[in-house]
Amino acid sequence: MNNDAFYATLSSETLREFALKTFGDPPSDLEEISKYISNGDRVLEVGCGTGRIGLPLIQRHNIEYTGVDSNAAYLEMFQKLAGQQPRVELIKQPIQKISKQTFDKILFPWTVIADFTELEQKAVLQQAYSLLDERGLCILDNPSQNQKPNQYGIYQPTLFYYQHWKERLGHMGFMSESSTYITRTGVERELTFLAKSDSLP
Ligand SMILES: C[S@@+](CC[C@H](N)C(=O)[O-])C[C@H]1O[C@@H](n2cnc3c(N)ncnc32)[C@H](O)[C@@H]1O
Repeated sequence: MNNDAFYATLSSETLREFALKTFGDPPSDLEEISKYISNGDRVLEVGCGTGRIGLPLIQRHNIEYTGVDSNAAYLEMFQKLAGQQPRVELIKQPIQKISKQTFDKILFPWTVIADFTELEQKAVLQQAYSLLDERGLCILDNPSQNQKPNQYGIYQPTLFYYQHWKERLGHMGFMSESSTYITRTGVERELTFLAKSDSLP
């Protein structure tokens, strides 16, 4: 299921309000993801939205940041908040069209991978494999299996659980592991870590 039609009905402000309910303030997912970002990293954020995660990452770490999103309104808000920043590129395109560069960190925050069908998820993860540096790390943040999925109008996620994917990730060439954390609003989330070499956290 492609959720573009859902996001087209959801204002940037409402998207941010939803995030607040799941992650609190300061956002727990940002705290978790930040631990794995180093100064100088080339970071790709898939489905960067309004910059809820991207902006503080840019501000905290001296990174080269590429944010990709298919929603023009979200990117417009991101650009407005970011102003003119060196080493920041926002691209309005489906992630499937990004190629060529490699990245030290590839982020799929806040259930972004669930916006793809299972077949697309496989293709996007294979794409992430080719975009990831040999020593790089890819991080996916999703609801844990203990968590009831969110229901919003026409939103139809294809939920991603590490246990279901572990074997397939290995076949794709990834080394992988997962961990869980609880957000400051009490929601259990699962982080999936993917790497090409032994650079897992
Ligand atoms: C749940 S929101 C997360 C936004 C942001 N990462 C955050 O944490 O606030 C998912 C985002 O993924 C974007 N998205 C969905 N499918 C996409 C695709 N194929 N390519 C790029 N972006 C996509 C949506 O437009 C939306 O902004």
